[in-house]
Amino acid sequence: MRLGLKMVWDKESLKEVVRAKIGDRKFIVVSNREPYLHVFQGDEIRCVTPPSGVVTALDPVLRACGGIWVAHGSGDADKEVVDSNDRVQVPPEGPAYTLRRVWLTKEEEEAYYYGFSNEGLWPLCHIAFVRPIFNEADWTVYRKVNEKFAESVLREIGDGAGFVFVQDYHFCLLSKILKEKRPDITVAQFWHIPWPNREAFRVCPWGEEILRGLLGNDLLCFQIRYHCQNFLDTIERTIEAKIDYERFSVIREGKETLVRPFPISVDFEKINQIAQDPGCDEEIKKIKRILRLKNRLVGVGVDRIDYTKGIVERFGALDRFFERYPEYLGHFTFIQLGAISRIRIKSYKEWNDEIYHLMIDINEKYHTRDWQPIILQKSHFGPKDLISYYRMADVCIVSSLHDGMNLVAKEFVASRFDNNGVLILSRFTGSARELIDALLINPFATDNFADTIKQSLEMPAEEKAKRMEKMREVIKENNVYRWAGKIIGELKKLA
Ligand code: G6P
Repeated sequence: MRLGLKMVWDKESLKEVVRAKIGDRKFIVVSNREPYLHVFQGDEIRCVTPPSGVVTALDPVLRACGGIWVAHGSGDADKEVVDSNDRVQVPPEGPAYTLRRVWLTKEEEEAYYYGFSNEGLWPLCHIAFVRPIFNEADWTVYRKVNEKFAESVLREIGDGAGFVFVQDYHFCLLSKILKEKRPDITVAQFWHIPWPNREAFRVCPWGEEILRGLLGNDLLCFQIRYHCQNFLDTIERTIEAKIDYERFSVIREGKETLVRPFPISVDFEKINQIAQDPGCDEEIKKIKRILRLKNRLVGVGVDRIDYTKGIVERFGALDRFFERYPEYLGHFTFIQLGAISRIRIKSYKEWNDEIYHLMIDINEKYHTRDWQPIILQKSHFGPKDLISYYRMADVCIVSSLHDGMNLVAKEFVASRFDNNGVLILSRFTGSARELIDALLINPFATDNFADTIKQSLEMPAEEKAKRMEKMREVIKENNVYRWAGKIIGELKKLA
């Protein structure tokens, strides 16, 4: 579709690029988290979508161009619905692609997912001041699990040609394993989280092996240019390889890896459409009634409960806001939707408790007979529910301490077809580079954060509309189809 002189990417344009660049090759996406989980609810089996940026972004892409998505089968009813090759067609309401499930033992999940990926690499890459834990036994299992996924991918490719698109930090070694066995296939990887500076990366005991693994890719993508530069810098100081700053690539043992920034995004049109559905207005009325919001101003936060999301800092700023501006007592309610995540890890459990207690303290301090400042809803909401919350909000707060991109910010903007609502956005997210018309904050600067909440609630309607309009233009153009199309288009530059 063309708007003025600008091309706006959609499903059709992505399909064309896929046809032209991938042709007959099999298109295989690999991620740890699967896009659809089957879970038991009593005797029934329900299909649910997990709270994951990877899933939010890639499901529309696979729906548009088909292919095979290889992922860990983690739902308790996952085995009930697959065929003899561990495959199931998804999405359930209109199958468009194949989900190939890989089974992990409890021990493997513990060491590879909870251990090395989320206690080691996650805190290593996010500057949130949580110490990474590196455990040799976890690392050994992490390597084995990467091999296990490689076997499944190779089985899916068979003898034919393939393009494999690997996702994230769970698979630092996968691309190298694949290329060693099948040098003819094309392998790209998207690193969804930040890449740290070399000083921070230095503490990882298996840094060199990780870097060699990532250089197995033909194309390695990060969210922003700064992360690419951090990566190249890390390579330069850690292993022997030639860096070509002209081409933005690394050559090691005769093999080249292109390194590129591609900011990930959302399906703008789909969200925009759902937001305009009359069902959404009904839902908003229902939520307002149930939560007894009356005509109060409403703030919304939507996150996985993760220490990188800055929820403690957000609540701290809300506390300061009510302290400084008591005229808002009884007139502004903040709703925090929080999906429980990685709860078996100690730091996550502690953060969960801390958030809960902080909410209780703040509510105790300020509540009135029929009002409390913070409503915390700890469950996972589907896309339609979330869009109703976004639409209902006078302000949406994203206060990550460090975030590769943050798609909540983009979803909020995509759902505000009414050009209303204000976005408060942490400067330390990838999205802040694109959404410069948000009210940008440093989540650690509590006083300024509190004042920004006030500013958002008092912003004149024209200014809100102007800012929102500009942000919507940005996300409409830089949507997830463009993201995928540009990455696939980049393949033509490969030797
Ligand atoms: C981040 C990561 C994803 C991950 C998501 C949810 O967005 O980049 O790879 O899927 O968090 O985390 P989980 O551990 O539940 O998959």
